Amino acid sequence: MSDAADRGAPAPLLEARGITKRFGAITALDGVDLRLFPSEVLGIVGDNGAGKSTLMKVLSGLYAPTEGEIVFDSRPVVLHSPRDAQNIGIEMVYQDLALAGNLPIHENIYLGREPGRRVLGFTVVDEKLSRRMAMDHLDRLNITVKSVDQGVEELSGGQAQAVAIARATAFEGRVVIMDEPTAALAIREVGKVLDLIKSLKDHGASVMLVSHRMDDVFFVCDRVMALFHGRNFEEASIAETSRNEVIGWIMGTRGHAATPAHERA
Ligand SMILES: Nc1ncnc2c1ncn2[C@@H]1O[C@H](COP(=O)(O)OP(=O)(O)OP(=O)(O)O)[C@@H](O)[C@H]1O
Ligand SMILES: [Mg+2]
Repeated sequence: MSDAADRGAPAPLLEARGITKRFGAITALDGVDLRLFPSEVLGIVGDNGAGKSTLMKVLSGLYAPTEGEIVFDSRPVVLHSPRDAQNIGIEMVYQDLALAGNLPIHENIYLGREPGRRVLGFTVVDEKLSRRMAMDHLDRLNITVKSVDQGVEELSGGQAQAVAIARATAFEGRVVIMDEPTAALAIREVGKVLDLIKSLKDHGASVMLVSHRMDDVFFVCDRVMALFHGRNFEEASIAETSRNEVIGWIMGTRGHAATPAHERA
C-alpha cells in the first residue's frame, strides 16, 4: 500500500493503524489496519464475529481501542465519544438504526443537534427551520417520504434506513459508516439504500459499508477488505477480485489452494 502512496495516490482520509480491541479475555481486533480514501466506498466483510462491528465502533468513537492509532486527514485523533467523531465528520448508521420511533422524521434527523437559537445555554428549536432543512436534505438524497412530520414508527424498513442515513449525513459528514444497512430489508428496498450510498459518494463522502451480501458489495463498493478472526486477511479493489474470491476470504481461504487460514502458520 505504501507503493500506492509513493505513486502519488491521494492520502487516506481516515486511517486505522494497528487497532487492537480486547473485551476482557476476548480479543475482538488484533492489530487491524484500514485505509479509507476520499470519495471511496470501502466494503468490510468477514464471518460472524470477525470484528467488523467492533472496528466500526472504534472508528466512530463508541469504543476506545486497547491499542493502536486513528489518523484523520493526516492527523492523529483520539475519539472519546461518537460526538468527538461527529465533530470531525465521521458519522455512523448503527445496525439497530437508533431512531426514536415516537418522533417525526425531521426531529429524528436533527435529534440532539437541532437547528435553533441558543438562549441562556439552551437551544430553542426552530421547528419550521428543522422541517425545511429536513425536506431539502431528503430531496438532495432523493429520499421520498409522505411528510417529514410522519412518525418514524410508521415507516417501512427501507424508509427507516433512509432516514437513519439522512441523519448521518445531515451534518456534511465526510465519512459515513454503515453496519449492514440492507440486512433487514426487502429486496426492492435494498436497491434504494445502495443508490443512496452511491449518491453520498457522488456528493464527496467516503463510506464504509459492512455487509454480508456480495451483491451489495460488488454493486456499490470501490474496494473490499476482509477481516478474519479479528485480523486483516485480504483486500483488493473490486475490479481486481471476484465474488468467489471474497467469499473465500470470509471463510479464511485464499486462491485455489483454499487452505483454511487456521491451518497455516
Ligand atoms: N461489547 C462486547 N463485549 C464482549 N465481547 C464483544 C463485545 N462486542 C463484540 N464482542 C466480541 O468480539 C468479537 C467480534 O464481534 P463483532 O460484533 O465485531 O463481530 P462482527 O464481525 O460484527 O460479526 P457479525 O457479522 O455477526 O455482526 C466477537 O467474538 C464478539 O463476541
Ligand atoms: Mg456486526
